[in-house]
Amino acid sequence: MIILGIETSCDETAAAVISDDRKIMANLVLSQLDEHRVFGGVVPEVAARAHLDHLDTLIKGAMHDAGIGFDQLDGVAATCGPGLIGGVMVGMMAGKAIAAAHKLPFIAINHLEAHALTPRLTDDLEFPYLLLLVSGGHTQILVAEDVGIYRHWGGTMDDALGECFDKSAKLMGLPYPGGPHLEKAAQGCKNPTAALARFDLPRPMKGRPELEFSFSGLKTAVRSCVDKLPPGALKKDDVADLSYSFQEAICDVLQDRLRRALDQFSATYNPATPSLVLAGGVAANLRIRQALETLAQSKGFRLVAPPVRLCSDNAAMIAWAGIEHLRLGHTHGLNVAARPRWPLIEMERFDRA
Ligand code: KG4
Ligand code: ZN
Repeated sequence: MIILGIETSCDETAAAVISDDRKIMANLVLSQLDEHRVFGGVVPEVAARAHLDHLDTLIKGAMHDAGIGFDQLDGVAATCGPGLIGGVMVGMMAGKAIAAAHKLPFIAINHLEAHALTPRLTDDLEFPYLLLLVSGGHTQILVAEDVGIYRHWGGTMDDALGECFDKSAKLMGLPYPGGPHLEKAAQGCKNPTAALARFDLPRPMKGRPELEFSFSGLKTAVRSCVDKLPPGALKKDDVADLSYSFQEAICDVLQDRLRRALDQFSATYNPATPSLVLAGGVAANLRIRQALETLAQSKGFRLVAPPVRLCSDNAAMIAWAGIEHLRLGHTHGLNVAARPRWPLIEMERFDRA
């Protein structure tokens, strides 16, 4: 089974071709960083226009890389939400058009589910597994029970984790998107102990019984640290120390919340080989991976985190989610609508092929 996947829900235009033996035959991603950098964030109309300009070329390129024609596909999968609706429509309509022209099944993919299923493309991973999904727009603790069946155990009460990284990085004068820049700055910290003492940041929600997160207070604390520094551009060492302290606060909170979730998962499912899966763009952060690896090991869990290039938005994950659904006979009619909001717990509705 070979599927074409299309992703246009945010600021990456992407097309990929995947086979059901987990071979990535093509995986093209065009980032719109330059278009949005001047605005310091993603502008929905600019994103939709850029998707429109580049998607055809990317699809053509992906089919070329895969070395196949449209008639050799078994289906077309496109992100139909959640995301910036203008961009989602561009990718969805392109996918539907290819499916209609070549009489192929169309699979409407939930972008969050695609992140959640990526580790099954890269690793041998059985259901159920515990999932920490952390991206620019989402922060959730979920249980993946099966393809299309997810339990929501916790989320954020305010900012998403990626958003907190990006906003805090911006406060320190780091370029957009801030997450990777902040991680790099933290790696330049010369004296971690002194950095933690200089910038003593809060650990929101730590110790609370419910599995919720809150990150806006942390961002505000970063702002007040920045305000106390001499005016003007921050010194490199100050940014390194503050970034280090920020990342440690995040890791501390994630370990605390996930420790509870791992216990709850073991008590609820008692699986033979328990797995904690890290997914979404923030999963690219190596310090977070290390912190969760330590926690997982201490609780007898295996940490599964896809390679960095498959953590941030891409179309390989969309094509893979298409394969997972199509081999269960799940497809959608061409009248399926794009959804700006589409919580994972609303997944359990499909047509049967
Ligand atoms: O999943 P994704 O590519 O797009 C969304 O669906 O949101 O996630 C993007 C988010 C951005 O907030 C970005 O700053 C963050 O992931 N991110 C990181 C790192 N790489 C990407 N955050 C922290 N450390 C990183 N290395
Ligand atoms: Zn994403």
